[in-house]
Amino acid sequence: MSTPPARPLPYRVGFGEDAHRLAPGRPLVLGGVTIPGAEHGAVAHSDGDAALHALADALLSGLALGDIGQYFPDTAAEWQGMDSRLILARALALVRERGYAPGNVALVITLDRPKLGPLRAEIARSLAALLGLPESDVGVSFKTSEGLAPAHVQARATVLLLRAAGEP
Ligand code: C5P
Ligand code: MG
Repeated sequence: MSTPPARPLPYRVGFGEDAHRLAPGRPLVLGGVTIPGAEHGAVAHSDGDAALHALADALLSGLALGDIGQYFPDTAAEWQGMDSRLILARALALVRERGYAPGNVALVITLDRPKLGPLRAEIARSLAALLGLPESDVGVSFKTSEGLAPAHVQARATVLLLRAAGEP
């Protein structure tokens, strides 16, 4: 990255967003959880986990580190079908290298079908484990598009970054 290092504020906020088109015959993966019974899944270069992509972008944006497309170009054959947990892990490592750690996270997934409410705890647990946070610091909300985008999944995430004690 050519931008100057982010100022060492005690708290920094990050925001990220991602969307994918949905098509039949693919798994639907959200927050590292494969959604059982989904009749369609994301059309994507990677596994299409919009929630993890939004969250990874939120982590990077909090320190003005750009976005995941710069680290994982979707033209690179090596990333074909890749597990997005690796994308999140890379973003988290970049944040930690700079002396920050996630404080709490808020995630909103917009999807018409299926209903995700019954999987809320499982998705929160999965995200918490990936981020090294207690489950109670991961807020997960769901919205429909009210029928406006039935073949579409979208995720938005905010994250609070905390500067580690002892960092300059
Ligand atoms: O978007 P809307 O306001 O219609 O969502 C109503 C409820 O449906 C919310 O409580 C939300 O958590 C839930 N929901 C869900 N799974 C989705 C979309 C919405 O459980 N895919
Ligand atoms: Mg509504």
